Amino acid sequence: MDDNFMTKTIKVRVPGTTANCGAGFDTLGIALTIYNEVELTLSEDNTFKVTVEGVGANILPTNEGNIVVRTIRYLLNNLRNIYPNHYKENIAKLTGLNLKLVNNIPLSHGLGSSAAAIVGGLWAANEATGAKFSKDDILQMATELEGHPDNVAPAIFGGVTVSIVDQGIDSSTKATSLKVNCNSKISLIAVIPEFELSTKTARKALPAEVPLKDAIFNIGRATMFIGALCEGKTGFLKYALDDKLHQPYREKFIIGMKDVFHAAIEKGALGSVISGSGPTLIAFAENDFDAIGQGMVEAFRKHKVNAKYVILNIDNEGVIKNT
Ligand code: HSE
Repeated sequence: MDDNFMTKTIKVRVPGTTANCGAGFDTLGIALTIYNEVELTLSEDNTFKVTVEGVGANILPTNEGNIVVRTIRYLLNNLRNIYPNHYKENIAKLTGLNLKLVNNIPLSHGLGSSAAAIVGGLWAANEATGAKFSKDDILQMATELEGHPDNVAPAIFGGVTVSIVDQGIDSSTKATSLKVNCNSKISLIAVIPEFELSTKTARKALPAEVPLKDAIFNIGRATMFIGALCEGKTGFLKYALDDKLHQPYREKFIIGMKDVFHAAIEKGALGSVISGSGPTLIAFAENDFDAIGQGMVEAFRKHKVNAKYVILNIDNEGVIKNT
C-alpha cells in the first residue's frame, strides 16, 4: 500500500450555502456558518458502515444509495481512471468504507444540503487518498454531480462566489468560480418554513426563455450585489436583491412569501430573497437580527406556515479538514 493511501480516519467540515442571492440565478453563492461533518475511513477489507446523526438521521439511506457514499465512490473511480497502474492497483484495494455523517443543514430547504453532501464526500475521499485533486478539480466534479455550480462553489471555497459554466462542443462542462472579497459586515437571517421543496420541482416551474428586459433587470442587480458587498456599500442591497428570473415563478410554492419579505424590510433588513430554490427565505441585515427573524416568522404564521429562524454569518473557509 502506498503511504499516501491512508487508512486513518479523515474528518471534514463543510458549510451550508445560499445560492442565487436574488438576481444571480445559478451564479452567485455564499457559504454560511452552518455545517455538516463527514468522518471517513477507507480500508482494504469489506467493511461497509454508514451512520447519520442530526438532520436526516433515520431518513437518509445508509447503503450504497447514500449521496455521500456515491460521491466517495465517484472520486475513487476518477483516481483509478487518471493515475498510472501503480496507483490503480492501490486504489482498487480501497473497497471498505466506514462513514459517519453529522448533519446540521436542513434537507430540501434551499440551504445547500446536497452540495454539502457532495463536497463533503469528495473532499473526505480526496484527503483520504493523499489529496491528489485541487479545489478546482473538486469544483468540476461537484458541478457535474450537482448540475449547477452556485451552491458547490461556496461550499468548496467559502465566502461569496461568482460561478460560470462553459459548455464544450462535446457537451462536457467546465465550471469557473471567483471568490470575491466581501468588505461588508452583514449577517443573514434564514427563515426556514416547516415544509420541504425539492430543487427539481422548483426548477420545473421556470420558463425555458425569458424576456430581454428581465435579463437586463437581473444583470444590473447581480453585478450591483457584488459591487455593494465588495465596496462595503450595503445600502445598495435594497436595489440589488430583486429578481425577475426565478422568484416570481417560485412564489406559488412559498405561501406568504411577499408578506414575509415586507416584514423583513419593516423590521430593518436591507432586503430578502429566496435561498437557493427555497423554501427558506433569507434576509440580509447589519443589525436588528432577532427582530427581523421574529417578524418574518410571524408573517409566515399569519399564512398558517410554521417557521423558525437562524442568524448566520458568512463562512470564509469552505470545506476544511477538521482535526
Ligand atoms: N440555482 C439553483 C436553483 C440553486 O435556484 O435552482 C438550487 O439550490
